[in-house]
Amino acid sequence: MNTIKTYIKNNKERFLNELIDLLKIPSISADSAYKKEVLNTADFVLKSLKNAGCEKVELCETPGYPIIYGEKIIDKSLPTVLVYGHYDVQPADPIDLWTSPPFEPVIKETAIHPEGAIFARGACDDKGQMYMHVKALEYMTSTGNLPCNVKFMIEGEEEVGSESLAWFVPRNTEKLANDVILISDTGMIANNIPSITTGLRGLSYVEVEVTGPNRDLHSGLYGGAVANPINILTKMIASLHDENNHITIPNFYDNVEELSVDERAEMAKAPFSLENYKKALDIDAVYGEKGYSTNERNSIRPTLDVNGIWGGYTGEGAKTVIASKAYAKISMRLVPNQDWKEITALFKNHFESIAPKSVKVVVKPHHGGQGYVTPIDNIAYKAASKAYETTFGKTPIPQRSGGSIPIVALFEQELKSKTILMGFGLNSDAIHSPNEHFGVWNYLKGIETIPYFYQYFTEMSSEK
Ligand code: BES
Ligand code: MN
Ligand code: MN
Repeated sequence: MNTIKTYIKNNKERFLNELIDLLKIPSISADSAYKKEVLNTADFVLKSLKNAGCEKVELCETPGYPIIYGEKIIDKSLPTVLVYGHYDVQPADPIDLWTSPPFEPVIKETAIHPEGAIFARGACDDKGQMYMHVKALEYMTSTGNLPCNVKFMIEGEEEVGSESLAWFVPRNTEKLANDVILISDTGMIANNIPSITTGLRGLSYVEVEVTGPNRDLHSGLYGGAVANPINILTKMIASLHDENNHITIPNFYDNVEELSVDERAEMAKAPFSLENYKKALDIDAVYGEKGYSTNERNSIRPTLDVNGIWGGYTGEGAKTVIASKAYAKISMRLVPNQDWKEITALFKNHFESIAPKSVKVVVKPHHGGQGYVTPIDNIAYKAASKAYETTFGKTPIPQRSGGSIPIVALFEQELKSKTILMGFGLNSDAIHSPNEHFGVWNYLKGIETIPYFYQYFTEMSSEK
């Protein structure tokens, strides 16, 4: 199948230009001002699947943004790969920190990407990575190298919690029936250290509102005599971690799986430089839960972080005021076995219980989802591992990620199949940040590696 290399060489410019066109559409799912653009992106994906050789393509309406479905069934007795990805992107702000506009993609060289990287919102998360699959499919169908059946399901609400997909999947279990789910929406360690993501954290996202007096007050006339909701909120938040950076919510750790000494030793073998990590972030020291390494803290341990906090006067100059209300958005990253709904309830009870009588507290749960661990002893993992060996010349390292794709746990529950996470992005690609980018090398390497997964998975399935 060395023809994939030639195919990429001959079509490289077109592959890049098509992705650039896709990246020009600002498909920001969080902001309703971009509704038309999100819908246009859905159409783009639909057409691209048709052009890549899907025999059946459908725009599936949902209560929210449509799901694009495509399939090519060559023989019912062969295995079926279901590809999942998302065409929506995060908001681009803060815009002024971008060195080029977020929806005007440009290719620039970086220290890590000497072959150039495409700078645009969604370049890596997930348009670039999703489109690798479309181009890999194009190669396989146009050269007679598709060894099995394939289905695509590309959604437009991943960045806002996949609510419509959670509605769609249980209603379409037959249509979506598959032998393995394949996703490129994660990363790898480095271009010369391939890795396969074997775990995703769960998530519980909440918003809290603390109300003190019924109106904003003069901070001289009332200061010291009534509760200041901002003071109270920050104090309550501070109390959520103890001096060892353990989370203080009662029963929070009840279901957290403790890894064995051996498993932790295995994890510690993955190449990692704390010095480079600190340097890349411009920090003098790392921070986190006592007793765990940096890699453990951001993968096998749960966390609680304030994502935003506001209230009172933040305009120019000074205003002497005690605000009536203060707010915060808080996320908890969870590990497998922690139930996100249970954790949300624990948070709510605890946060309400620590509020002093002088304020009222409301906790509003947002979205959430379960974590996920992929087994590495099944043929899906083995096929993926062999695919990386073929194109990278190295065995990939299994590694759990700290990020979340909550819908993966639902796939397992509803479709009874395992997911394999073949991510080709790097942590330094700045997903969700200004100047998000995706290496040209990574994009093409992904297109090259994916067809091998299909080939090996099909071969290994028939040997079962
Ligand atoms: N692709 C990311 C998740 C990711 C990135 C996992 C890198 C592992 C490595 C996804 O688009 C994402 O941003 N997920 C959100 C959760 C979602 C419910 C908004 C996240 O992890 O914050
Ligand atoms: Mn993503
Ligand atoms: Mn994302």
